[in-house]
Amino acid sequence: LSSSETKEQLEQEKEIVAHAAIGCVKSGMKLGLGSGSTSDRFIRMLGDRVRVEQLKVEAVASSKQSEKLAREVGIPLVEPKRGLRLDFAFDGADEIGPDLSLIKGGGGAHLREKVVAGAADYFLVMGDSSKLVNQLGTFPVPLEVVPFAAPWVMDRIEGLGGTSTLRFSKDSPSIRYLTDQGNYVLDCRFGEIGRPAELASSLEKIPGIVAHGLFIGYAKAALIARGGAIYVLRRDGSFEPLADSSELP
Ligand code: 5RP
Repeated sequence: LSSSETKEQLEQEKEIVAHAAIGCVKSGMKLGLGSGSTSDRFIRMLGDRVRVEQLKVEAVASSKQSEKLAREVGIPLVEPKRGLRLDFAFDGADEIGPDLSLIKGGGGAHLREKVVAGAADYFLVMGDSSKLVNQLGTFPVPLEVVPFAAPWVMDRIEGLGGTSTLRFSKDSPSIRYLTDQGNYVLDCRFGEIGRPAELASSLEKIPGIVAHGLFIGYAKAALIARGGAIYVLRRDGSFEPLADSSELP
C-alpha cells in the first residue's frame, strides 16, 4: 500500500469502528464523549441517532472541541456533578497495548478524557488497526504540565531516562500549545515501555504534572477495525471478531 492508500484505509477503519461502537448505545444512557478524529465520527453518528431515532441520551464532553461538535449535532450535554455515573465512555487512543493499557493525549485532551473515563462504568476504546501495538512507546507519552513547573518537569523526565519536547501549536508553530485548562503539553519518549504501570506511578510523583497520557486499568475493552472487520480486545487478552455490539459489555 502507498502511504496515501494507508491513510485512506485508516480513515475508513475509524468510520467502521465508530459505527460499531454506536451499536452499544441505548436510549436512556448517560455517555462520555472522547476527543479526536475517531471520537468526532462517533459524535456525528450519535447526533444522527438522536435526531433520526429520537434516542434519549445525555453526554459529558471531554474537550471544548467535542463539546462544540456535540452541540452542533444536537446531543444533550450535561456537566460533571456529584453522584453522576456514566454508563459508557467512548474514546480513541494513540496506542493500545495487548493488556488494554493506552497512550492517549495526541490531541492534548487526556486530562478530561481520563476524568470522563474514570466516571464511566464501561470505558470502550475505539481504534483503527494502526493503534494496536505489542508494546507502548513508539508514540510519545503526553504530559499536561503547569507552565511554571515545565522546566523542572523536563529535568525529572531526563532523570527517568526519557526525553521531552514542549508541544507547539500546529497552526502557529511559534506559539506554545495550550490545553483546555491553559496548561502546556510535554511529549515524552522513554523508548519501549515495558512496564507502563511503573512509569505511570513514577510520573504521578512529579509535582507539576497535572495528567499523563498513560491510561492503565481504565479500558474495559477495545474495538479495533482491521480492513472491514471489527475485533474486540478484552482485559483477559482475548482478541476476537465482534459478532454484535450489543454483546458489550
Ligand atoms: C486526544 C486523544 C485521542 O483519542 C487520540 O489522539 C486518538 O485520536 P484519533 O482518533 O484522531 O486517532 O487521546 O487527546
